[in-house]
Amino acid sequence: MSQISSTAIIELALDLASSLNSTDRFDRLLDTVRKTIVCDAVALLSFHGDILKPIALQGLSRDTLGRRFYVNEHPRFAALCQSKHPIRFAADSPLPDPYDGLLIDRSDDLPVHSCMGLPLYYDDKLLGLLTVDSLTPHVFEDIAERTLAVISAIAAATLNTAFLIDQLESQADHSQRVVAELTEAAWKRDGGELIGNSLVMEQLKQEVAIVAPSDFTILIYGETGVGKELVARTLHQKSSRQHGPMVYVNCAALPENLIESELFGHVKGAFTGADKTRAGKFSLADGGTLFLDEIGELPLAAQSKILRAIQNNEIQPVGQDQVEQVNVRIIVATNRQLKDEVAKGNFRADLYHRLSVYPIHVPNLQARAGDVQLLSGYFIELTRRKLGINQLKISAAALEHLEQYNWPGNVRELEHVVSRAALKARARQPDSSIIAIEPQDCGSLAKLINSDKTNSMSLVAGLYADSTPQASQEAVGVTCLNLREETEQFQRQLIIQVLTEEAGNWSAAARRLSVDRANLNRIAKRLNIKVVKAVV
Ligand SMILES: Nc1ncnc2c1ncn2[C@@H]1O[C@H](COP(=O)(O)OP(=O)(O)OP(=O)(O)O)[C@@H](O)[C@H]1O
Ligand SMILES: [Mg+2]
Repeated sequence: MSQISSTAIIELALDLASSLNSTDRFDRLLDTVRKTIVCDAVALLSFHGDILKPIALQGLSRDTLGRRFYVNEHPRFAALCQSKHPIRFAADSPLPDPYDGLLIDRSDDLPVHSCMGLPLYYDDKLLGLLTVDSLTPHVFEDIAERTLAVISAIAAATLNTAFLIDQLESQADHSQRVVAELTEAAWKRDGGELIGNSLVMEQLKQEVAIVAPSDFTILIYGETGVGKELVARTLHQKSSRQHGPMVYVNCAALPENLIESELFGHVKGAFTGADKTRAGKFSLADGGTLFLDEIGELPLAAQSKILRAIQNNEIQPVGQDQVEQVNVRIIVATNRQLKDEVAKGNFRADLYHRLSVYPIHVPNLQARAGDVQLLSGYFIELTRRKLGINQLKISAAALEHLEQYNWPGNVRELEHVVSRAALKARARQPDSSIIAIEPQDCGSLAKLINSDKTNSMSLVAGLYADSTPQASQEAVGVTCLNLREETEQFQRQLIIQVLTEEAGNWSAAARRLSVDRANLNRIAKRLNIKVVKAVV
C-alpha cells in the first residue's frame, strides 16, 4: 500500500507556511498530492451550498475553472458531498463523470479509469472537495486510508486558511470603505464649502489651498462659531489624505482619567474595565487626519503625551511596552488665545510652538464685509431643502436687518437665526407656495440654546432684543448718536451677548458682568431687552 512519507508532509507544511497567497498555497497543495499519488488530474473545489466551484486544478482544461457544478446534477459529486470519508469510485462505475471531456490528456468521454474524491471538512463543516483522476484503472486501490486522511486534513486546513484570509481581507476592505464613506458623508453634510467672498475670506481660502496639500500641523483659531471645524474639514478634503479617515476628537469632552487610552488606545487588561484591546484615535486616524478640537481645554499632563506623539509619530497604547508608528496629520482648533494660555501656565510652550507651525486665523463674521448676505442665502437654501419648502426667500428689509447685527455667535448664530426665521415665516404664511422671511421673523438677536431630547418637541429658548421701531433704529446704529445713546447701545449689545452666551440665565449673566441681578434686570428693562422662551 502506498503511504505518504513524513518528508512529504513536512515539505508540504513548510511550503504552505511560506506561501504568498491563496493561489500559491493551492498550487503547492496540488503539487504535493501529485507527488504522493500518481494521477492525471487533480482538482480542488470549494463548496457553496448546492454548487461546487473549482478553485485550483492540474491536468484539467483551464476552462474548468470557470465552470460551476450543481451538486444534484452530478451523482459522483453528490455522493462525495454526503460522505464523511474519501470515496474510490469503481473503475467501471456507471455514474457519469463530471470531468468527461475536460481532461487535458483525453478530449473525449472518459473510458474505464480511476476516480477518487476526498470531502474536506473543517470543524464538521464541508468546505469543499479534492478530486483525483487517473486514466489507469485501479491505481488508487493501493493507497493507504491513513495517507488519504492526512491529505484530506491538510487540504481542509489549507482551504480554511484561505477562506479566513479572504474573509479578513474583505472585512478590512469593507471597514476602509465605511471610513471613506463616513468621512465623505460628514463632508457633504456640512455643505463642504467655505461660503464668503469678503477680502478676509478670500485670504483664508487662499491660505487653506496653499497649506492643505502639505503635512504641516495646523492650528486653527478664532471666536466661537466662525467655522473652524469647517476649515479643518476643508484642509483634509484638499489634502492627499482625503480618502483616508478624518478622526474628530473634542478635547474638552475627554474624561480626564481616560484621555490617554482614548487617544492612544489600550491593551486588554491594562486597567479595570479594559476587557479588550482597543485602538485609540491616533491609530484610527492612521493614513488620514486627526482633528483635535478645543485643544486649549486639554489638561497639562495630556499635553505632554500629545507632544511626544506629534514629535516622534509614535504612540504607546496604555499597558503596552512597545511603541507603534503612526502616520497622522494633526489639525487642532481652539477659540482661546493659546499664547495667553501659555503665559498663564495653562498650556505648554513647547506644544504651542509645535502646533503653531502654520496658524490659521478664522475671522469673525463682523470682519467679513458682505458675507452675511451670501451666508444667509446659503443657509436659506439649506433650510428650504430641510423643511421641504417649495420656495423660500428673504425680503430686502430682513436681509438688512441681519446685516446690521454684530453676530457675537458668528456663522453658527446666523445659521440658527435663519433656520428659526424660516420656521416662523412658514407658520405666518401656511398657505403660500413662496414663503418670505421678514424682519419680524428674525428678531434682532435669536439663538437656539436648548433642545430637550426627551421631548418629541424640541424646546427652544430664544433671546430677543425688543424689535420696536425705536429699538431697531438704535440697533442699526444711526451715525450721529450722543454719548448717552452711544453708551446705551454698547450696554445693550454687551448684555445681549452675555445673556446669549449664558443661555438666558440672568444670574449667570449678572455674575459675568459684575452687577447685582436686580440691577441687571433694571438696566435690561430700560434698554428693552427681554428673554423670551419659545417652543417651536
Ligand atoms: N464660511 C462658511 N460657509 C458655510 N458654512 C459655514 C461657514 N462657516 C461656518 N459655517 C457653518 O457654521 C456652523 C459652525 O461652524 P463650525 O462648527 O465650523 O464653527 P467653529 O468655529 O468650529 O465653532 P466652535 O468654536 O463653537 O466650535 C457649521 O454648521 C458650519 O458648517
Ligand atoms: Mg468647533
